[in-house]
Amino acid sequence: MSIELAARIKELPPYLFADIDKKKVELRKLGKDLIDLGIGDPDLPTPKHIVAAMQHAAAEPRYHRYPSYEGMQAFREAAVKWYGERFGVRGLDANTECCALIGSKEGIAHFPVAFVNPGDLVLVPDPGYPVYATWTRFMGGEVHYMPLRRQNGFLPDLSAIPADVARRAKLMWINYPNNPTAALATRDFYKEVVEFATRNDIIVASDVAYSEIFFDGEAPISFLETPGAREVGIEFQSLSKTYNMTGWRIGFAVVHEKLVQGLGKVKTNTDSGAFEAVQAAAVSALTASQQCVADMRDIYRERREVLCSGLEAAGFEVLRPKATFYVLVVCPRGYSSVQFTSKLLDAGVVSTPATGFGPSGEGYIRLTLCADKSRMKDAAERIKSVKL
Ligand code: MLT
Repeated sequence: MSIELAARIKELPPYLFADIDKKKVELRKLGKDLIDLGIGDPDLPTPKHIVAAMQHAAAEPRYHRYPSYEGMQAFREAAVKWYGERFGVRGLDANTECCALIGSKEGIAHFPVAFVNPGDLVLVPDPGYPVYATWTRFMGGEVHYMPLRRQNGFLPDLSAIPADVARRAKLMWINYPNNPTAALATRDFYKEVVEFATRNDIIVASDVAYSEIFFDGEAPISFLETPGAREVGIEFQSLSKTYNMTGWRIGFAVVHEKLVQGLGKVKTNTDSGAFEAVQAAAVSALTASQQCVADMRDIYRERREVLCSGLEAAGFEVLRPKATFYVLVVCPRGYSSVQFTSKLLDAGVVSTPATGFGPSGEGYIRLTLCADKSRMKDAAERIKSVKL
């Protein structure tokens, strides 16, 4: 029997991190000690009170049945309350303007299923999280990349988007604090996005998975703080990075009722919701003291110092992040992102070529801060020893 993949899957390059994972496994089989600064997957444990809440909830038979599709009432209420306290975005309706997700990646993937028709145009940051472009293409939509350039603070230049593209665009993805560049959005930029989206009738989908990882000064803002944003947008939030819960798969989307409901309709036909014991633990995460998050920031700040200072002392140009746990390093002259990544892998350091996030990532590799301080020091030493 000849088994033929669908064209959309045949054309799809392997998922960035799945491919890097394969290479890591091969090298580890050969006995190589790797410092893994590839995927953004916190090495720190989930805070104890969240684990305890999960242990308690997992023993409750009422949580063993199908979850509610839109998420437990208590979870949605905790999510909108957290939004009010953290961002000052108040008055969100937990019943109509919030929906639980099985991790924000799930929601980001399914959102275009609800809103992108074949031939629709979607504005996607480049570099950007690969899921934005992949699911646009799965839906038959057309990706228009918005390059993020260092000289522009890695913010897209909306005035460079041709008028016919803006007119045709149905949806725009934004992501600040940004993966992979670590850039932050400004209030002025968000104002511009609201004006642009309102003028051109474009849905804005904002991914704020890294909003709680910041180091210097003020906490990052939410797109929804901007006047008018609630009329054009939806925001995807994740508990993965904030509470070291990547394996638990829990996040949520908030605001525009029609956008939340459209996404919900896809989900009722796709999954059966997030395990309610996980949602109960997430309620504990969102409502208990946020000291654990402040402690986590201190740890990442220290690691950032060790890694960035080590690399700078070795003569590398490093973009010291103000937020996220990602560090961009400028590739040495004569090396592409992929070539430099491969050199680092030979030296025992796993990194990610920024081109894995889009063509404008060329010239950079990305390192994470997801290993302890001593490994950061070793990583800088190993990178220093690379013969270029
Ligand atoms: C990354 O490394 O870019 C992220 O961890 C991937 C993800 O969140 O799925």
